[in-house]
Amino acid sequence: IQGDTIYYTIRAQTGETQILDGKPTATWGYDASVLGPLIKFVSGKHYHLTLINNLPEVTTWHWHGLDIPGPIEDGGPHAPVRPGEKKEIEFDINQQTMTAWLHPHPCPHTAEQVWHGLAAPVAVINPADNLPQIPHDWGIDDIPIIFQDRTFHDNQLDYQSDYDMDGTLGDTALVNGTANAEFTVTRPWLRLRVLNGANRRELRLNSNDNITMTQIASDGGFLPHAVPLTKLMLTCAERAELLLDFSSYKTGDQVVLKADDTPILRLKVGDFTEDNRSQLPATLKQIERGFTGGATHKVVMAGMDDSVRINDKLYDMTRIDDQQVMGKNEIWDVSNTNDDMPGMGMIHPFHMHGMSFLVLSRNGHDPYPNEFGFKDTIGVNPGEHVRLLVRFSVPGIFMYHCHILEHEDTGMMAQIEVI
Ligand code: C2O
Ligand code: CU
Ligand code: CU
Repeated sequence: IQGDTIYYTIRAQTGETQILDGKPTATWGYDASVLGPLIKFVSGKHYHLTLINNLPEVTTWHWHGLDIPGPIEDGGPHAPVRPGEKKEIEFDINQQTMTAWLHPHPCPHTAEQVWHGLAAPVAVINPADNLPQIPHDWGIDDIPIIFQDRTFHDNQLDYQSDYDMDGTLGDTALVNGTANAEFTVTRPWLRLRVLNGANRRELRLNSNDNITMTQIASDGGFLPHAVPLTKLMLTCAERAELLLDFSSYKTGDQVVLKADDTPILRLKVGDFTEDNRSQLPATLKQIERGFTGGATHKVVMAGMDDSVRINDKLYDMTRIDDQQVMGKNEIWDVSNTNDDMPGMGMIHPFHMHGMSFLVLSRNGHDPYPNEFGFKDTIGVNPGEHVRLLVRFSVPGIFMYHCHILEHEDTGMMAQIEVI
């Protein structure tokens, strides 16, 4: 730290991780053998990052969820860092409290690099909207749940042989890079920062006990009001922060979190060392959403496997597909036309770089109760359309794409220039 500039160095590197019994798995990570430690940004500060590529191939550092000017700082395919190379970038962070993430974006190799383990949690803290009554002792009562699925071949990953054009699936569920993950709960309130970091699989989170999982935040920060759930659906790259209340449990009890029917995390209740409960405010965050005017941008997501397209086109890095004026509210009408393939059409998770949007409607109606906060990724089912309120506060060229990583790599991606 020097003055108001904070310096970070982040290495992408190869390593080994004990994921299954027996031989360790060769993995990739950020300053770690797999995934990476939490990267924290404080709103209002200036950051200087040194990115070092110790991998055998080109990569990029994309800050999924951060409002930073693109395309070099944003880390899309325009910002390659070659093996052995070191790059420095700088940006200001000016946004609300939220959970973002870091992942590589060197299309068409994004999916494979994430598969190897490149992904890390990122938290933005903005003193203006950071609710102090919500647990925030990282690793104690505030923990990440990075959900992914992988297949192992003699304990190793083999992306080429598992590759599926419609999104690579694994047969083993991982949380934070671990199979059979466990955590000991030592305070009655537990905050979970859940990220669906899978290449393709939707996460349908539930528990053996139907414990109430109170959702307090979505991708872009706190919801206007807490939403109690017993089941949470996240498509790829979506995030949710949940608050679980263990005060009625006793030492030795267990809550098993599951993805569909597969156990993914055992929460073992230990002796409570401290009471961290308090009163949640009735309004977590004031969010203005009554906007109707402005230009409308149309995005049509269509197809499967190698026919995936956005507005009938495949990605071309040299083509600007759309433009929007900085600081202006505009509507994006996003649809998924895959309803002409009964039983086959896929959910496409629609993601935008460079800002967080609000969901105005889903199929002409209100969005789901947990979609009233800011988001940067939204699951769109075959035949559905959503209307988004989009406002950029930084200039640059930004991607928008399907976040099934193999679809993105195939070219289900486009770019907007914010002027
Ligand atoms: Cu998660 Cu183009 O990003
Ligand atoms: Cu992104
Ligand atoms: Cu898709």
